[in-house]
Amino acid sequence: MTRPAPKSFHVKSFGCQMNAYDGARMGELLEAEGMAPASVETADLVVLNTCHIRERAAEKVYSDIGRLVKRGGAARPMIAVAGCVAQAEGAEIPRRAPAVDIVVGPQAYHRLPALVRAARDGVALDTDMPAASKFDALPARRRQGPSAFLTVQEGCDKFCTYCVVPYTRGAEVSRPWAQIVAEAQALVEAGAREITLLGQNVNAWRGEDIAGRPQGLDGLIRAIAEIPALARIRYTTSHPNDMSDGLIAAHADIDKLMPFLHLPVQAGSDRILKAMNRSHDTTSYLRLIERVRAIRPDIAISGDFIVGFPGETEVDFEQTLALIRAVGHAQAFSFKYSPRPGTPAATMADPVPDDVADDRLQRLQALINDQQHAFNRNSLGRRTEALIERDGKRPGQRIGKSPWLQSIVVETGAAPGEMLTVDIVAAGPNSLTGAIAQPVAA
Ligand code: SAH
Ligand code: SF4
Ligand code: F3S
Repeated sequence: MTRPAPKSFHVKSFGCQMNAYDGARMGELLEAEGMAPASVETADLVVLNTCHIRERAAEKVYSDIGRLVKRGGAARPMIAVAGCVAQAEGAEIPRRAPAVDIVVGPQAYHRLPALVRAARDGVALDTDMPAASKFDALPARRRQGPSAFLTVQEGCDKFCTYCVVPYTRGAEVSRPWAQIVAEAQALVEAGAREITLLGQNVNAWRGEDIAGRPQGLDGLIRAIAEIPALARIRYTTSHPNDMSDGLIAAHADIDKLMPFLHLPVQAGSDRILKAMNRSHDTTSYLRLIERVRAIRPDIAISGDFIVGFPGETEVDFEQTLALIRAVGHAQAFSFKYSPRPGTPAATMADPVPDDVADDRLQRLQALINDQQHAFNRNSLGRRTEALIERDGKRPGQRIGKSPWLQSIVVETGAAPGEMLTVDIVAAGPNSLTGAIAQPVAA
């Protein structure tokens, strides 16, 4: 029996910022089809934009489906599973969860409207990785908060032994220069004052400028920095092996490029890095950080860490802690190793017992928290700029970001998108307090 066409939708994104970007684009696509955004409780179509990176992330989708099914009867929405679980599990998803109507992979979501039409008569599935880019088929960007994401590169050729991304997102592909610059312009016209360029390996971006000259990410950043109303540029996530001289130099001579570098290293033991197939070692990573700091001494270094990788000993783990101390990471994401089906590490010997991995994760996070607090305390007394993003907890409070990606709470009536000069008067573990020094024109 043909179901009625959904009139409203809700997109729920899990996982990385690239998924958040994809989720926003799916929303724009559905709006262009005449559907209205709605809450997850009332929407006729719910898109679960999933993440497959760790087991717990991948399992979330099934509990969410369960919750949607409970709505029951006529209120039960059409359910689409998008993102990396869709790519990895494909037709297995409706087998395990028969309430699912649509399965759509991260490279095929431009076809979502057609899938929605097809799903009125039965399960619709599309996990193609088509040669033609989905970006050509997406509607123009609109309505933007002060801080916007822009995907410039997708996929990964690195094949770290623990990671599903090369399988769920496919090979490294760079979007063309002109398309990216045009999207950046559209985002700024729609209200963005900061753009974060995204890629699974964003610094592996390669392309040609409009004159046909070969360019890397630094060239692209330079071009985007020319947009007058754009105030700040960031990029994430980078791989140490793709940090070019040009990109390092960009941190010294492009004012709009913020002093923040998210550069995952994963572990501080060369033996473990080798087993992870990271293709860099601790010495090369430390040398790289030194070169970046030589050019931009105040830069905040961030990273990702995995504890409990197969074979990790207490000594290996202590080397990770030592590396974090040596670099002085200002923040980091850290994870307990999660074996992923189909990856080489999943069958490696010497798994680390769960309680040992839990304990290591706690110790690592305690160290990172200390360093983050210390980094924040170092900002005390500094005069800096806050880009206002949203309301704070209390009336009359706004929350903005510092150039180093710290949250700053400011007593002000300023609107999101305003850039305020503030003096940092207090520093907590997770945020700063700023007092307005002098308002500057937004
Ligand atoms: N391309 C990026 C990010 C990939 S996913 C990079 O290479 O840095 C984000 C983070 O998830 C990784 O950096 C890694 O720390 C973590 N991660 C990936 N696979 C994992 C796994 N199987 N178990 C635990 N953490 C994992
Ligand atoms: Fe995964 Fe490694 Fe690629 Fe990052 S570089 S996405 S961790 S395979
Ligand atoms: Fe997750 Fe896919 Fe991103 S697995 S981290 S949503 S690339």
